[in-house]
Amino acid sequence: MTADIGLFEAIYTARSLRHFKSDPVPQELITKVLDAAIRASSGGNTQHWTFIVVRDAEKRRQIAAIYRKASDYASAVYAARPKPDHLTDEQFAQFLANSGYLWDHMADAPAILVPCLTKREPPKRASLPDVVQARYADHLANVQRISGSSIYPAIQNIILACRGLGLGTVITTNHILYENEVKAVLGIPDNVATFALMPIGYPTRKYGPLTRKPVSDVTYADSWGTPWPDATGN
Ligand SMILES: Cc1cc2nc3c(=O)[nH]c(=O)nc-3n(C[C@H](O)[C@H](O)[C@H](O)COP(=O)(O)O)c2cc1C
Repeated sequence: MTADIGLFEAIYTARSLRHFKSDPVPQELITKVLDAAIRASSGGNTQHWTFIVVRDAEKRRQIAAIYRKASDYASAVYAARPKPDHLTDEQFAQFLANSGYLWDHMADAPAILVPCLTKREPPKRASLPDVVQARYADHLANVQRISGSSIYPAIQNIILACRGLGLGTVITTNHILYENEVKAVLGIPDNVATFALMPIGYPTRKYGPLTRKPVSDVTYADSWGTPWPDATGN
């Protein structure tokens, strides 16, 4: 067990880790990670999440093969996109190399965590007051848009808990294109959606520091376009 680290140290160093030792992760540590996950908020406090911990080697192999197939597709999309301006050529090459490594090595992680949400049927339109019915189409479009919002806070807790416990992980979503195949491997019912594949294990690479565009580049004061001061107050 690693020594406790501070919250901000965890936030600043919990980088995406994709290279893992083959050592198994003790079950109680995974339970602890999940106990952090379920402290997250969910819309209406519904807690309609389920987490599947895949340790079975054959299932990991099958899921990794689906991830590989999906990543071939995703990489073609990446290749057609320009490099983000804030990344140097070296940083971008590093990102591609690290992501590419996982395409072939997802199954090396001793556990793959699959965060899921059970789909919730919206109320029937006719059961609602007229004023709600009038905007219901917009409401339903918004529900579609925010569908992941009840699982991503839990996923971030998983990332931070892994960091705190000396584990590594990364959120990946490439599999979604072939999600039904992942669901078939794991016996996930039709009314449940998967949101990520998160390999978890003891990392062979170092934690952060995480470099990001500075706050002043991504923040406005009071209205769009009004600069937020940089770290020096200017
Ligand atoms: C919504 C989302 C989807 C992602 N999907 C993948 C993925 O499919 N494969 C992967 O290797 N990394 C994936 N990532 C990780 C990002 O590539 C990573 O966070 C980013 O490159 C920054 O890396 P860093 O956190 O180590 O600085 C995803 C991240 C997010 C937030």
